[in-house]
Amino acid sequence: MRKLSYYVACTLDGFIGDPHGDASSMFQFIDEEYAAFMNSEYPETIPTAFRESFGLAGVPNKRFDTVIQGLGSYRLALDAGVVSPYAHLREIVATRSLAESPDPNVELVAGDLVARVRELKAEDGPLGIWLCGGAQVAGQLADEIDELVIKSYPQVYGSGMPMFGAGFGIRDFALEDVRSFGNGVVVRTYTRKR
Ligand SMILES: NC(=O)c1ccc[n+]([C@@H]2O[C@H](COP(=O)([O-])OP(=O)(O)OC[C@H]3O[C@@H](n4cnc5c(N)ncnc54)[C@H](OP(=O)(O)O)[C@@H]3O)[C@@H](O)[C@H]2O)c1
Repeated sequence: MRKLSYYVACTLDGFIGDPHGDASSMFQFIDEEYAAFMNSEYPETIPTAFRESFGLAGVPNKRFDTVIQGLGSYRLALDAGVVSPYAHLREIVATRSLAESPDPNVELVAGDLVARVRELKAEDGPLGIWLCGGAQVAGQLADEIDELVIKSYPQVYGSGMPMFGAGFGIRDFALEDVRSFGNGVVVRTYTRKR
């Protein structure tokens, strides 16, 4: 069984973006020490367009071979003219409004998203599935998540886009790892207790 990991950047108060989803205030924390961590531990989460400048050209995927995002997140790439933002991964986009995939590497899911994720998890393979976001899709997949990797940035928004756009429900996780950085970023890894 492959793992579904929600690897996500958020504020101290648990928001993944401002009320419109914009997370650009967090970009300032990508300094040398933190970038080195992401490059060595999560190289495949750097968009294809930036891999060369991050020194990641040709670097193999380490943890994930698939990325799942909702159209709200994928739209950021589309608006920038990029149809395959993670071309080094298999890309899955949840959408009911996009009729046709703009790129052969991007699979659109319009039907039962949870069922599709269960199929992906049931595949054989050493690498897992990265749930990129955003809030709506993460909310629907909350019960399927096996691992949370929360990159907490030292900012408080007060309100914004939550990590999960889900109804109330208690889901328990066990802390596996904590990494902290000189710039105040803390990366916590949890596994789901079932
Ligand atoms: N901080 C971070 O690490 C991080 C990571 C990722 C994203 N984000 C932010 O999150 C924001 C987007 O989040 P969001 O919650 O607005 O959108 P989202 O979850 O990315 O996408 C929502 C869209 O996905 C489609 N969808 C949802 N459920 C579906 C289902 N069951 N089947 C098929 N399609 C489904 C719908 O598209 P249709 O309308 O086409 O049906 C829906 O409008 C972005 O602004 C981005 O910046 C932040």
